Amino acid sequence: MTHAFDKDYWESHWDGAASEAPSNPYVAEAVRGLTPGRALDAGCGAGAEAIWLAARGWQVTGADISGRALAAAAERADAATGIEPITWIETDVSTWQPDDRWDLVMTNYAHPATPQLDFYRHISDWVAPSGVLLIVGHRHVPDAAHHHTHAHSHSHSPEDQPPEKATATIAGITGVLAPENWRIDVAEECERTVRDGVPPLHDIVVRATRLV
Ligand SMILES: C[S@@+](CC[C@H](N)C(=O)[O-])C[C@H]1O[C@@H](n2cnc3c(N)ncnc32)[C@H](O)[C@@H]1O
Repeated sequence: MTHAFDKDYWESHWDGAASEAPSNPYVAEAVRGLTPGRALDAGCGAGAEAIWLAARGWQVTGADISGRALAAAAERADAATGIEPITWIETDVSTWQPDDRWDLVMTNYAHPATPQLDFYRHISDWVAPSGVLLIVGHRHVPDAAHHHTHAHSHSHSPEDQPPEKATATIAGITGVLAPENWRIDVAEECERTVRDGVPPLHDIVVRATRLV
């Protein structure tokens, strides 16, 4: 089954109990040593990563195509104490043209209706000079045992691998970051176990710093 990954898809994805999953570990790693500044989370979903940053002094904007996701994120943020206020914006990030620039632009497992690499190229424009881009995505695992064609519910369970078009490779991502503009700090294929007893997630992590 294929999905359009459009607004309707994502609204129905968020129809029900929103994820209470903790922030993924790559965000903490990526901002280690950085002075908190302005951050954008493109495709922030239920807000785990945005809230994690806001709890550490970052001025965060969370953008998502799903109003339901943002409502859940805002509720979660309201319940948190001691965090910076977060700006939530409902928008299709793949076509959004913000005037703002951010010290950190990140995207965690977001996949739009448009091609994945186009999305990454688009959001990379919003990183301020000397700012950081963090891309956390799904890595395609060609192993048939891990590859199912039924509905991709984003439960982050291994029975439910993302379709190939929602995945990316290191070469693909670094290929959209022109070497004269970017320094690649991290480009890794990672595996991590979210819950005991289920096979790991196959992730791709790229952190880059804008030179100019
Ligand atoms: C798998 S969820 C990941 C959510 C969160 N970043 C996380 O890591 O838990 C993907 C998110 O991307 C959002 N999304 C997909 N296409 C988008 C688009 N074109 N513009 C903005 N958000 C989008 C979805 O609504 C969804 O919240």
